[in-house]
Amino acid sequence: MFGKQFKKLLSRKVFSIIVVSLFMFMNKAMMIAMFMAIIDLPSNLYLMFFKPLEDISCSYLETGDVLPSADTIKLSSKSIFFIETSCRGGLDARQACTIESAARSHPDWDINVLFTAPATEESLKTSKALLEPFDNVQFYRIHMVKYATGTPLESFIAQGALNRSQYPIVHLSDIMRILTLYKWGGVYLDLDAVVAKPLGSLAKNWAARESDTSVCNAAMAFSIDDLGRRITSDVLRDIGSSFRWDSWTYNGPGAITRVLRNVCSTLEVTRMNAETCNGLEVYDPEYFHPVHWMQAKFYFETGPIDINKSYVYHVWGRQTRHLRIQSGSPYETLAKNFCPTAYNVHLQKFITRPGLLDNIFMVNDIT
Ligand SMILES: *[C@@H]1O[C@H](CO)[C@@H](O)[C@H](O)[C@H]1NC(C)=O
Ligand SMILES: *[C@@H]1O[C@H](CO)[C@@H](O)[C@H](O)[C@H]1NC(C)=O
Repeated sequence: MFGKQFKKLLSRKVFSIIVVSLFMFMNKAMMIAMFMAIIDLPSNLYLMFFKPLEDISCSYLETGDVLPSADTIKLSSKSIFFIETSCRGGLDARQACTIESAARSHPDWDINVLFTAPATEESLKTSKALLEPFDNVQFYRIHMVKYATGTPLESFIAQGALNRSQYPIVHLSDIMRILTLYKWGGVYLDLDAVVAKPLGSLAKNWAARESDTSVCNAAMAFSIDDLGRRITSDVLRDIGSSFRWDSWTYNGPGAITRVLRNVCSTLEVTRMNAETCNGLEVYDPEYFHPVHWMQAKFYFETGPIDINKSYVYHVWGRQTRHLRIQSGSPYETLAKNFCPTAYNVHLQKFITRPGLLDNIFMVNDIT
């Protein structure tokens, strides 16, 4: 009996020693490779390595803000929303570029940047200074529990469902973007994109495919008309009733794709368009996701950018955040053209590879 327990203890110890030494001997490249593989990591391994870094407790904080509450956002038919869901309460250089590119191409739109964490004067200093010249840019704070009040996810959020999530930041972000469009209507864009053309000529309600099998949730627009509201409330209800805390994509692109299969008269995402989807347009990948995430390093390696149909270039930050922006790369070209202020102010940050921890903690802040 004692022997058996001792053996068990020993094997556990041996296992821990192996894991710890793996960590100690891992070099940067190995760590990055592991980071890149997160999407495919079994969830228990992901939890072991990354859960402590994915903290959303700051989203519950009610105090410490200098920003107006997102509940005071102006209702407008011309709004673009960005949502920052880390606990930093600030923006990094590439995020500032994204916002600047939206602000420049949409001078008469409201560019709303929403933070789920408390933001201070200090944490916002540099990004505020950079974006100051663009008077169409507004920063707001989302108080998560209040924000969901009166929506289909009110009790889901209030009961702390996100606390059980294995990918809390991803899920927080998936939910907040749909909640935001449900409440205000407008365009939602991820913060890892460059806006190249005005979106005003697009349909009132649209989504964008990232591939032949999936509609992405990184760029989309739902208005508060009947169709838009039907879709956003269906997505919220889908999330509330079938939330999967162990899946990376189920509550995000998965939920949108499932709802569109109901709204549209086809199950095939390649056949979804305004005709088959009651007026909802579903754009081809070349307009918003012209490069597949598996090829996303294309943006950061020296070479020409011969794509010119895109409204938005989604650069897949989760897969590319750690990459140095090489001189003469497509991303550098895009930044020079579409976010010249961020590009000039943060040139050094743009062309310097962030450190390893920067990738994980996203601390290559511009503050
Ligand atoms: C969820 O987590 C937050 C922050 O850690 C905490 O304040 C809240 O009480 C938790 N809610 C539940 C229901 O566990
Ligand atoms: C867009 O790219 C195509 C193919 O590279 C080129 O023929 C065309 O002239 C370009 N159009 C513009 C407006 O740059």
